[in-house]
Amino acid sequence: MSNDPALFKKERLIAILNEIAAEDDNYIFKNKVSELKTSILAPDSNDNGENGNGLIASLESSDVVIYRRDLLVAELDQILEAQTFERAKYYLKRLEKGVSQIKTGKVNDINLYRWKEYDEVITDSLWVIPKRDTSGAHLGWYWGNFIPQIPHQMMLRYTKEVDWVLDAFAGSGTTLIECRKLGRNGIGIELNQEIAQKARDLILEEPNPFNVKSEIVAGDAKVINYPETLERFGVQQVQLIIMHPPYHDIIPFSEDADDLSNSGTTEEFLADFAQVVKNATPVLEKERFLALVIGDKYAKGEWIPLGFYCMQEVLKHGYSLKSIIVKNFDETRAKREQKELWRYRALSGGFYVFKHEYIFVFQKKGREITEQTEK
Ligand SMILES: C[S@@+](CC[C@H](N)C(=O)[O-])C[C@H]1O[C@@H](n2cnc3c(N)ncnc32)[C@H](O)[C@@H]1O
Repeated sequence: MSNDPALFKKERLIAILNEIAAEDDNYIFKNKVSELKTSILAPDSNDNGENGNGLIASLESSDVVIYRRDLLVAELDQILEAQTFERAKYYLKRLEKGVSQIKTGKVNDINLYRWKEYDEVITDSLWVIPKRDTSGAHLGWYWGNFIPQIPHQMMLRYTKEVDWVLDAFAGSGTTLIECRKLGRNGIGIELNQEIAQKARDLILEEPNPFNVKSEIVAGDAKVINYPETLERFGVQQVQLIIMHPPYHDIIPFSEDADDLSNSGTTEEFLADFAQVVKNATPVLEKERFLALVIGDKYAKGEWIPLGFYCMQEVLKHGYSLKSIIVKNFDETRAKREQKELWRYRALSGGFYVFKHEYIFVFQKKGREITEQTEK
């Protein structure tokens, strides 16, 4: 059966569901549900003629509800297979709500009455994503970029349309390109002027069907004046922060002393990272989310858990931890070429070859953060 969305006449479908709901005889009730199922399975009979029930809407109709045929049929099957009449009526009521109403949470546009339709949204903490999304302006040219699926997923879960997303380490602009696709306004901070300009050019290549703003600001995320920067775009706060900092010195991004890939020791890197978090936190709306994407590193024969260290830093700034996602690591060309060498090193050195990185999801606490709570 097709799982493409089909267009149904909303009022007609609601009327049929209500008519079935009013039925007190279990046998007749189930017969009517079966009839509805048959007509959905055989859409050709859904015309307005003598035998049709006039359910199928045309593209021109204004009164339309879009439903995946397979899911609608699955809902009807659940009603038909319910153990009790009471349960069957409950499922029918739920289906009617899914057709007639929308129930979204505070931080996204997911319609909870129709949650089964969001196959695309990941809810597991282990992400094995075999291929980067290379659609649209995503070229993946920048060494150290992340796959677009990361900001895509974060935005689906933690933003509503036209919300503002701040990426404190914008790099090649992956987050902002994704913002355009999903209809979110985006601001990215990038230290390296040249990269910032390249990102701007690339973002402009992505169509902007929702007419959102996409701004890359060249600057140091540790000290940039966020209120002033946001004011330029007419906003005071953002609804999601994404941070994908350098994994300390694994990739040297520039020679700039303010670049986190040039922070001296691990402690200095963490202090710089903490400064970035402290600087951005006041402009994040209360109870909204911050996603930190980072991996660990090896140095002098030791695994340095940068991810967990950075997680601890964020937690000092008025956030609660919502999830730790482990994501498979994009194999870089260099790593692929050196695969055998890394395996030999692992076997001889007693360690494991990195295959994962983390996405830490935090929620900003509801109360205002004071110096006291920050310590
Ligand atoms: C891991 S990359 C981010 C890549 C990005 N997610 C993408 O998909 O292209 C980290 C970026 O942070 C930038 N950076 C380093 N220190 C910074 C700072 N103090 N302020 C702002 N950006 C900084 C680097 O130039 C680099 O582009």
